[in-house]
Amino acid sequence: MKKRILSGMRPTGKLHLGHLVGALKNWSQLQDKYECFFMVADWHALMSEYKDPSRLKENIIGNVIDWISCGIDPEKSALFVQSEIPEHLELFIVFSCMTPLGWLERCPTYKEQLRELTTREVNTYAFLGYPVLQAADILLYKSEIVPVGEDQLPHLELTREIAARFNHLMKKNVFAEPQAELTPTPRLMGLDGRKMSKSYENYIGLSDTPEIVAKKVMGMFTDPKRIKRSDPGHPQVCNVHEYYRVFASPELTAKIETQCVNAQTGCTDCKKQLGDILNAYLAPIRKKRGELLKDEDMIRRILETGREKAAAVAKKTMDEVRKTVGI
Ligand code: TRP
Ligand code: SF4
Repeated sequence: MKKRILSGMRPTGKLHLGHLVGALKNWSQLQDKYECFFMVADWHALMSEYKDPSRLKENIIGNVIDWISCGIDPEKSALFVQSEIPEHLELFIVFSCMTPLGWLERCPTYKEQLRELTTREVNTYAFLGYPVLQAADILLYKSEIVPVGEDQLPHLELTREIAARFNHLMKKNVFAEPQAELTPTPRLMGLDGRKMSKSYENYIGLSDTPEIVAKKVMGMFTDPKRIKRSDPGHPQVCNVHEYYRVFASPELTAKIETQCVNAQTGCTDCKKQLGDILNAYLAPIRKKRGELLKDEDMIRRILETGREKAAAVAKKTMDEVRKTVGI
């Protein structure tokens, strides 16, 4: 029997290249090896978007369309919406009872978000419990492997601790401690060299038109030491070259590197070519996306099938948990 894996994404906006390289590519490659559950984490999204949740519904459909366009195959994997499976919240409350406050207050992602997420008020009761709900997501499906980016490692560590604490307190081995399966591709930076993020306006969206992609690429930061075209460049510190490493062939990437260090090509030409490469890369995704956008009913059917698959597993685990806890 194949091992089961679960991963999730919050429907807080449109998806960009960072999601594609950082998660979706990895997800789609795991589909044959594992029994996959991919979840739209709308409760997690509500924890930061509760003041204006009006976009969540359309983001759910939009994100699932992007997932499928990027190679997530609903025939192979279960795609479902977290809030349609009530057991997530049931297991969340069970784990909440058993999780010491200190574990959550010390969590580095929590401290970082309180500091950096200045456009949202996340000093709330629920937001502190964000990793507890994530642990419930993962353990509800007894997922032993969780494909995530590096930023999620503290949540995986907490999930392991919560699983171990449950087993210890209940004197029964209900949950195995899951491992993170890190995305193999290095993290793709935004156009300005910071983390690619919607709130920084430094992303290339999967729904951007070819013109917008070309324009955004022309605005990318390059090697700051290369001022004149005759200056030799430093591809290893240039974000544009990093994109070549991810999206272009190894031969072209090596060629650009040589031309850059010998000042044989200018940054403008280098970026123009990158724009073409990204547009070629995105073309099949755009095409698929355009087709799926016309058939929202099909997306709903896919999510219904996913819900049924998820519900069966969730019920089984939660029955076991209720019995174990005695409730
Ligand atoms: N916290 C994850 C993120 O922001 C989303 C998420 C929610 C998740 N539940 C999950 C990821 C369970 C993996 C497993 O990316
Ligand atoms: Fe970067 Fe290309 Fe300019 Fe070299 S030529 S510094 S790789 S943009």
